[in-house]
Amino acid sequence: MSELNRNFIAALNRKSQKIPPLWIMRQAGRYLPEYRKVRSNFKNFLDMCKTPEVCCELVMQPIERYDFDAAIIFSDILTIPDALGLGVSFVEGKGPIFSNPIQKPEDIIDMRTFNADNLDYVYKTAELTRRELDKNIPLIGFAGSPWTLAAYSIEGSSSKNFDLTKSFIENHPDDAHKFLEILTDACFEYLKRQIISGVDVIQIFDSWANLLSESQYLEYSLDYIKKLLKKLSADTITSQTPTIVFARDPKCDLAEFKLDDLSCYGMFTSVNRTHAMNIFEGSQSLQGNLDPKILLEDNKVIKESVSKIISDFADYPGFIFNLGHGITPDIDPDKVKVLVDAVREN
Ligand code: CP3
Repeated sequence: MSELNRNFIAALNRKSQKIPPLWIMRQAGRYLPEYRKVRSNFKNFLDMCKTPEVCCELVMQPIERYDFDAAIIFSDILTIPDALGLGVSFVEGKGPIFSNPIQKPEDIIDMRTFNADNLDYVYKTAELTRRELDKNIPLIGFAGSPWTLAAYSIEGSSSKNFDLTKSFIENHPDDAHKFLEILTDACFEYLKRQIISGVDVIQIFDSWANLLSESQYLEYSLDYIKKLLKKLSADTITSQTPTIVFARDPKCDLAEFKLDDLSCYGMFTSVNRTHAMNIFEGSQSLQGNLDPKILLEDNKVIKESVSKIISDFADYPGFIFNLGHGITPDIDPDKVKVLVDAVREN
C-alpha cells in the first residue's frame, strides 16, 4: 500500500500524518477537459450518471491526472429524489429541474415507495470502479443529507432562497418530518448498498444547511443526520465504514457535530480552523477547507494558502486536505496541480 493512500484511512481514524491525504470535492467535473469531452456525449446529465462504465471512467480521470489519495463515486445526490419518482433532469445553465416536486403534503403520500434496487446503476459504478481502481486508493460513496434532498424536492429546482421549502416547513411541519424520515431511511439503504458494492468511506453532503436558523437546523437537518449516522453505526454491514459530514455554513455551534458516530467533519470555507480544532479536540478528524476561489489566484498565493492550512493542522490528529466547497468549472486544471504539489512538497 502506498504511504499516502494508507494515510487517508489513517487520518479518518484520527492519526496524524506528515503529509496530509488529499482529495477535492467535485474532483471529477467540468473544470477538466477530459470530463467535458465525455459529457458532450450526453444530453441529460442523469443519463450519464445511469451509465456505470462512463461513471467509472469519470471517477478515474482526476486520479490519473493528480494521483489523489481518494476517489469519489461519480454520481449525484439527486439520484434518490429521482428514484422516488420526482422526475429529476438537469437543464443546461439552470441546474436540476423536478417535473414532479413535493408541492403539498398529499404529494408525500402519493410519492413512489423508495426501492434501493432502482439505484442499481450507482452500485454497478461502485463495483466497476472498485475493480478498476488501485486497491490502495479508498473509494468514497456519498448521499445528500435528508434536509438537502428535501429542499431540492420541495423547491423543484435550485434557488437562491428556497422560499417554497421554507414555507412548506413552516406550514406543514409534521409532513416535513414525515418526508425527512422517508429520506433518512432511503439514504441508509442507499449507502448500505454502496458499501456492499465496494465503497470504503461515506460522505454526507448537507449543501443547503445554510438555509435554516439555528433551531430549525437542529430540528430539520441535524437530527436526521444523527439518525442516519446511528443507523449506519448500528448495522453490522455498515458499522466499520468511516463517515464524513460536510455542511455548508450551518447556523449552529460546531460542537453539535461532535458525534460519537461521526469519523470526520468536513469544514466549509468559512470555518475558522483554530476554532474547529478547539471544538473537536481530536474526537473527529477534520477535512478542508481551502477556499476554491484561491485557485483563481497566482501560484504564489495558492502555495502560501496551502502552507498556512497545513501548518495550522500540523499537530491535529487526523487532517485531510480538501477545498471548503466543490471546485468550480472556471478553474484551470494546472492550478489544481499547483495545489497538489504544494500539499505534497510542504
Ligand atoms: O467528483 C465528484 O465529486 C463528482 C460527483 C458529484 C457530482 N455531484 C457530479 C456533478 C458529487 C459528489 C455531487 C454532489 C452534489 N450534487 C451536491 C453536493 C455537493 C455540493 O456542491 O454542495 C449537490 C448540491 C448536487 C446537486 C447538483 N448537481 C447541482 C445543483 C448541479 C447543477 C449545478 C451545476 O454545478 O451546474 C449538479 C450537476 C452536477 N453534478 C455536475 C457534476 C459534475 C455538473 C453537471 C454537468 O456536467 O452538466
